[in-house]
Amino acid sequence: MRDQVVLTGIKPTGMLHLGNWVGAIRPTIELSHKPNMKTYFFIPDYHALTNFKSPDKLCEYTYGAVATCIALGLDPSQVVFYRQSDVPEVFELNWILACFSPKGLMDRAHAYKMKSNPNSDVNMGLYTYPILMAADILLMHSNWVPVGNDQQQHLEIARDLARRFNQQYRTDVFTLPEALISLAGVVIPGLDGRKMSKSYHNTIPIFAPPEHLRKLVFHIATNSSGIHDQKDIETSTIFQLYQLFSTPKQMEDLKRQYQNGIVWKDAKEALFSLLDDQLRGPRAYYETLMDNPQKLERILQEGASQAREVASKTLERVRYTLGINQKRKTHGNGSSRP
Ligand code: ADP
Ligand code: TRP
Repeated sequence: MRDQVVLTGIKPTGMLHLGNWVGAIRPTIELSHKPNMKTYFFIPDYHALTNFKSPDKLCEYTYGAVATCIALGLDPSQVVFYRQSDVPEVFELNWILACFSPKGLMDRAHAYKMKSNPNSDVNMGLYTYPILMAADILLMHSNWVPVGNDQQQHLEIARDLARRFNQQYRTDVFTLPEALISLAGVVIPGLDGRKMSKSYHNTIPIFAPPEHLRKLVFHIATNSSGIHDQKDIETSTIFQLYQLFSTPKQMEDLKRQYQNGIVWKDAKEALFSLLDDQLRGPRAYYETLMDNPQKLERILQEGASQAREVASKTLERVRYTLGINQKRKTHGNGSSRP
């Protein structure tokens, strides 16, 4: 049986946070343990450039993202890690796909539409962001792409571009990818109750040192209900975060305490202890990995060479399909269809 391909990427624009863990990393770890799965985890550093321009930080956050995923359970002997910028084939495919992308499709993409002033806040990298993302996905023949809810539209665009190309050339060169949206599309809330996101500066970094983690948890916005009033679990960010990491029994216990009128300070303490207990071991491993950037670089370089092997074969088929370089091939060594 042919392996199924799982692929995901996280931009190196900050320390990875609980939203990244639940939305993308945790489902990727689960899939990577299944039989007949080939898993790729890559760092889309050129995607980051659309809104992040700090050279020193880019390098630090790239290693941070890789170390975070390994410490949480993505095993580099099973999973291929690479940087987008180390796989130049993706940029050739990006151009090819751009030539199949109607402008209207980009006009409807929300990453660019979310900017308050599309004329001044949007560069062409951001505007064409979904095309580069489609190239990342299609180049590796991805079947499954674990992502948070906010990336669903990008996955639909990737699928749409793959389908158009395959239909136009009557080929199966591209695999149609599926988004794997965890927890039925839950968006993990941040400190202020909006989506947890590096761009909103409202994140809880997975491997924040314990004192900082505690401080952040105590910054989570709560409502002004009276000290011993019954508390509503539906609108409580603390409860929503707690249930993502607790056992069903722990969750039921906290739910009962909410009904009995838990004091916000105690709810925050419960969340902090839950997170700190789970993260203590992985945090120590993360710190060891971060002290060894040479090892992280080696993992990325080995991954890039594996990814390029697949990527160059895909691109060869795509070029052949388009008629690019076909002539030279048939006149040169007489080789036929790749
Ligand atoms: P950020 O918004 O912090 O920049 P990214 O865009 O780099 O995060 O997201 C990387 C992955 O993590 C994506 O699959 C994204 O959907 C997921 N993700 C990010 N934030 C959340 C969240 N708050 N809830 C669920 N998934 C999330
Ligand atoms: N757009 C994704 C994000 O902001 C990052 C990304 C780039 C990605 N290319 C990808 C995710 C390919 C999955 C697959 O989170």
